[in-house]
Amino acid sequence: MVHGAVIRTFAQQDVVDFSKYSNIPTINALTDDEHPCQILTDIFTYEEKRGSIVGKKVAFIGDAACNVARSWVYAAEYFKFNLVLAAPEGFESPVTNAHVKQVRSPEEAAANADLLYTDVWISMGKEAEAAERIKAFAGYQINSKLISLAHKDVLVLHCLPAYRGKEITAEVMDLRADDIFDQAENRLHVQKGIMDWLVHSKAA
Ligand code: NVA
Repeated sequence: MVHGAVIRTFAQQDVVDFSKYSNIPTINALTDDEHPCQILTDIFTYEEKRGSIVGKKVAFIGDAACNVARSWVYAAEYFKFNLVLAAPEGFESPVTNAHVKQVRSPEEAAANADLLYTDVWISMGKEAEAAERIKAFAGYQINSKLISLAHKDVLVLHCLPAYRGKEITAEVMDLRADDIFDQAENRLHVQKGIMDWLVHSKAA
C-alpha cells in the first residue's frame, strides 16, 4: 500500500531487513552505523558552494566510529575524494577504503583541507558514555586555530545539532553559520531528490 519508506532508527539491520522483506524503496534516515542522506547533503552543499568534490581533501574531526563518519568513508570511495579522519584512540572508524586515512592528530587532518567537518561527541544512544566521551574528545574541536591550517577557501560544515565549546567553538559556529544553515536546509531538498529518484525515476 506504500511506495517507499523512510526509517530513522538504531539498528542498521532493521533497515536492511525491512528493505529485503518489504521490497519497496527504503531510505536510511539514520542508524547507529550510517547516515547516508546527511552525507549526500553535505556533498551537495560542498559542490553548490565550491564546485566538484573530486580529488578534494575532506577532514573529519571527532568520533570517527559514528554513523556520520562511516557514511563519509563510503562516500569517499564513491565520489573519489580524500578523507582524513582524526579521532582519539578507541573511536576509529571500523570501515575504511583506499580513499581514507585515519590519524590521531586533528592538525594533521586539517592541514590544507578543503572541507572541515565535525559531528557531536555524543551521538544518539551514547548518552550513558557522556562523561567518558567529553574527556576522550577534548582537543578534537573545530576552532580558529584548526581553520588556519586548512586551505584558505575551506568550507566548514556540521550536521547539527552543534554543541558550542565542545566539537566546535561558538566563534566558528557564528562565523560559518550561513554555510551550516544552508547545509541544514539542503537536507530537505536532497532528501526530496532521493525520494523522487527512488520512487519515480528509478522505478520507471
Ligand atoms: N552522529 C549523530 C548525528 C546526528 C545528525 C547522531 O547519531 O546523533
